[in-house]
Formats: sequence, structure tokens, C-alpha cells
Amino acid sequence: MTLSIENSDGPIGASISGIDLTAKISEDDFTTVREVIDARAVVVIRGQTDLKSSNLVRFARCFGTPQVNVRAEANNDANPEVFWVSNVHENGKPLGSHDAGRYWHSDLCYLEKPSGVTLLHALEVPTRDGMTFGATQFAGASAAYDALPTDMQERIEGLTARNGYRFMWNRKAREFGKRPVLNETELQKFPEDAIHPIARTHPETGRKCLYVCDGYTHAIEGMEKDESDSLLAFLFDHIAKPDFRYSHEWQVGDLLIWDNCAVQHKARFDYPPELRRRMQRCTIEGTVPY
Ligand SMILES: [Fe+2]
Repeated sequence: MTLSIENSDGPIGASISGIDLTAKISEDDFTTVREVIDARAVVVIRGQTDLKSSNLVRFARCFGTPQVNVRAEANNDANPEVFWVSNVHENGKPLGSHDAGRYWHSDLCYLEKPSGVTLLHALEVPTRDGMTFGATQFAGASAAYDALPTDMQERIEGLTARNGYRFMWNRKAREFGKRPVLNETELQKFPEDAIHPIARTHPETGRKCLYVCDGYTHAIEGMEKDESDSLLAFLFDHIAKPDFRYSHEWQVGDLLIWDNCAVQHKARFDYPPELRRRMQRCTIEGTVPY
């Protein structure tokens, strides 16, 4: 099969065809995929309708070490590196996370080593009357940094902030009601906050990227709460501007891969619960942000 690449109109996003990931990918093809991700940050490999969880894990391992998500009940039983993102029930229980991607974020930013790339594979996509719903939106984190006024770039230089899974859990539980609010003791099973730079340097391209995640980043170190809240609110609004966006409209069999330093993402919840959406995801351990 010959591999072909098509870039989207904007600065991020590309489509690759001519790969069948039910078989092992060649070294040359993988090098090409890796180069397109570095250049375009978000890449879709279409047509992977027969991709099993084991195929996904094998391909994911080409990128590095897959992470086992802290929310153990949402992981695939046979392949715990695979995390379910869905709105469906199986055997009377919710399958995986029903409310992943509510806020703009970068995957697993609450860990000392957050995700490098994420692979998300569409098994079922919500559709009705020829319309497809549940797009995943992306914002370019380096473009967002570059567009900041110089005085703001100088203001955030050297600042670090707390990124919390525990914080996110209860905020999401209160705002969307899809998960229970947990008390302090129950929250202990999840990791403590990770402290990361607000502007991090991309380990491959060297570009500065904004690295504050709405929903997870909740306090700037060494700053009074009011000032921290207002600076974070400014940065969250800035990242969400349409100027830096790319939207991925899903097809069944799409394998979407993105770079969590170069982009942030958010799911669109624009479909009723009876329209099924079922995805399997692998995240790859990245480097410590600097
Ligand atoms: Fe995510």
C-alpha cells in the first residue's frame, strides 16, 4: 500500500491514508507518521475499521510506553493500557468515561510525566439524518503562546502551576453529574497535583507552548488566589479563541493521533444520549515538562 498525506487548511491537522494497522507497520511508514505528527500536531489515519485493542496497543508501543490510566474501572480488561471513552453501557454498567474531554486540556497533565501523544480510535460515532456529532476540537498551544502580547509572555515566564486530577474530578462531578462527588479520603486514590511550567518548551520543535488546562490547572505557585485565578482565566480564554482551532469530524475507523504539548483538545457534547459514541484510547508517556 502506498502512503499518502493531505494537510488540512490551517496550521494543524493532516490525514494519512494507505496504512493498515491490523498488520505491523514498517519502520519507514512509522518514521513518516512521526514526522507528520511533529509537523502538523494532529493526524488522522482513516479506515481502521477492523482495529482491535491489541492492534492499537502494538501500534501505540511504537511511540513509547503506553500509560495505564488512573481511573482503573474505565480501562479495557484485556489490555489495561486501553482506556474506554464512550457514552454506552455494557452489562448494565457505563463503559469507560462518559464525560471525558469536557474542558480544554492536555491529556494526563496531572502527572509528573504527562502524555506525549494520544491515540484515539473511533468504533462508534454518533450520527443522525446524515449528520455526524461529537467532533473533537483542537487548539494550537504554540500558536496560542506566540499570539500572546510580549508583556504577557514575560509575565508568565518561569511561572509554574498546579495541575490536579482530584480537582478535576470533583469539578466535573458537580458540573455534569456523570460521576460521584468524592470526599478527601476517597480522592487520595488519585495522584497528587503535578506542578508544571505555564509555558513549556516542546521537546522536539523547541517552540514555546501554553500549558495551562482548564479543569485541571487550578493554582499558580507563589501567587495570591485572586491574582492566580484571574491570570488563569485570561489564559484559558486565550487558548479557546477560534484563531488557533482545528476540528476533527469523526468517521468510524478513524485513528486520531495528537501531540499533547503542541495542542490542547476538547470534545463536543452536541448529541443526545441515545446516539452511541464509543472510542478506545491509548496515551503514551511523555517527558517532564520544562
Ligand atoms: Fe483528553
